[in-house]
Amino acid sequence: MTLQVSGLNAVRSGRTILHPTSLQIEPGARIGLVGSSGSGKSTLGHALIDDLRAQGRSVAHVPQSPDEALDPLRSMAFHWREAEQALGLKLGTASQDTLFTALKINSGDLRKRPWGWSRGMQQRFVIAMALIGSPDLIVLDEPTSALDPVVAAATMNLLDRHLEGRTTAMMLITHDLGLAARRVSTLMVMQDGRIVEHAPTEDILHRPTTGAAKALSAHRSWQAVPC
Ligand SMILES: Nc1ncnc2c1ncn2[C@@H]1O[C@H](COP(=O)(O)OP(=O)(O)OP(=O)(O)O)[C@@H](O)[C@H]1O
Ligand SMILES: [Mg+2]
Repeated sequence: MTLQVSGLNAVRSGRTILHPTSLQIEPGARIGLVGSSGSGKSTLGHALIDDLRAQGRSVAHVPQSPDEALDPLRSMAFHWREAEQALGLKLGTASQDTLFTALKINSGDLRKRPWGWSRGMQQRFVIAMALIGSPDLIVLDEPTSALDPVVAAATMNLLDRHLEGRTTAMMLITHDLGLAARRVSTLMVMQDGRIVEHAPTEDILHRPTTGAAKALSAHRSWQAVPC
């Protein structure tokens, strides 16, 4: 079923950081949300997730920082059990081994708390939690920012394989146009709390119309990024 939100907005300290925004997301869609730092991408991601969850839709979230998802006082095993329970799975039934092996985090000690894992391992652990089920939407906010390019590419490949043939839609939030160019079919460009351009990825990369999209696509380094 199509996901629909309207009039999303956010005001912080009297400043509008997200202007009224409406979105429609088709099942299986692969959308990139790009824009410069501070343009409002994470804010829109949070508002979208809150609204859809309030509608009763299932949304998995890989937040920009693992700190948002992991309680420093709880073990990694605790977090995993919580993720299974949230999906109504019987404990231990999620494909933990397969996901951990694919994400190369099977050396991590689940008895430890988050700070016993490296930042990049924490980030992949949070991605693994998001891949347990088949939600309506997965929102990934800079999911590879703490990973080296090789691990980042492998992680994104795993995500692609996981989503193949599923109706789960994906929103990839990033300021890395190279990452988006290879992974999504549609791009939304944000500037100052608004979506200023929304078009097929190829169009925005090669025929950007707004200043914000032109500035992003002008950085040709996006063509060289491996993932
Ligand atoms: N809690 C808050 N209080 C005040 N201002 C905030 C708050 N959260 C975000 N902002 C402001 O809102 C704007 C958008 O922030 P947001 O984190 O959504 O940007 P972003 O596009 O995700 O940036 P980045 O690429 O750096 O992650 C920024 O100017 C930020 O300073
Ligand atoms: Mg952000």
